[in-house]
Amino acid sequence: GTEKINIAIDGFSSCGKSTLAKQLAKKLNYTYIDSGAMYRAITLYFLRNHIDWTDEDEIGDALKNINLSFQPNSKTGDSEIYLNDENIEYVIRDLVIAEKVSEVAAIRPVREFAVKQQQEMGKLKGVVMDGRDIGTTVFPDAELKIFMTADITVRVERRFQELYAKNPNITIEEVKANLEMRDYIDSHREHSPLRKAADALVIDNTNLTPSEQLIKVLEECKMAVKKSV
Ligand code: CDP
Ligand code: CDP
Repeated sequence: GTEKINIAIDGFSSCGKSTLAKQLAKKLNYTYIDSGAMYRAITLYFLRNHIDWTDEDEIGDALKNINLSFQPNSKTGDSEIYLNDENIEYVIRDLVIAEKVSEVAAIRPVREFAVKQQQEMGKLKGVVMDGRDIGTTVFPDAELKIFMTADITVRVERRFQELYAKNPNITIEEVKANLEMRDYIDSHREHSPLRKAADALVIDNTNLTPSEQLIKVLEECKMAVKKSV
């Protein structure tokens, strides 16, 4: 049969998680869900609407007004995020969002809001989701779990190249400080911190190209599907 599985990809920032997840989804004809985009979207909404996120009541009211969805780009087919019917895929990649997102993502009701929707999306299987807590909290029963890592200097350089293409005023130092800050907050927060799940396969892609890592993981997918049938 054509049994579908869920694939959970976690790891530090700019490790190549979304690159891998997108390629896997295309190859396997699965749905790619960028869970980080959801936290970035909530952060965008909070910043735009001047929400005081230290106030539980304000957060609760704000979350009621947030409707997130993923829709395929009409040209590329890539999944893109919408906030109340506005395509925000591009604006949420800004460093302004990256500076605040880890603070927002550490808030319990924010996580509950996002995780509930993520679990709903995985119910029918055939989902590749990347993030920080997918293998530990969102899909603890995922048939394949990957934990990605890479040297910090390589990660900074990769992310710098992406951001610099959009904004030539950006500096390497800013990008490095942001990645280090997020990695620290994400792995030290109280609610579902970034952790490798016990049964996750670790991939260090410091010296791997995107196609090399894809080949490696596709092999693992085949085995995981076989095991699940
Ligand atoms: O920049 P990068 O692609 O590494 O990050 P992202 O996947 O867009 O996630 C942005 C931020 O959202 C992370 O730094 C975390 O603070 C938060 N996040 C989370 O808490 N849990 C997830 N499952 C995904 C992201
Ligand atoms: O999703 P995450 O933040 O973990 O990383 P990403 O956005 O997928 O990857 C960050 C950058 O690293 C992208 O520009 C990728 O093309 C690049 N990359 C790479 O050069 N080699 C890899 N093996 C994986 C990603």
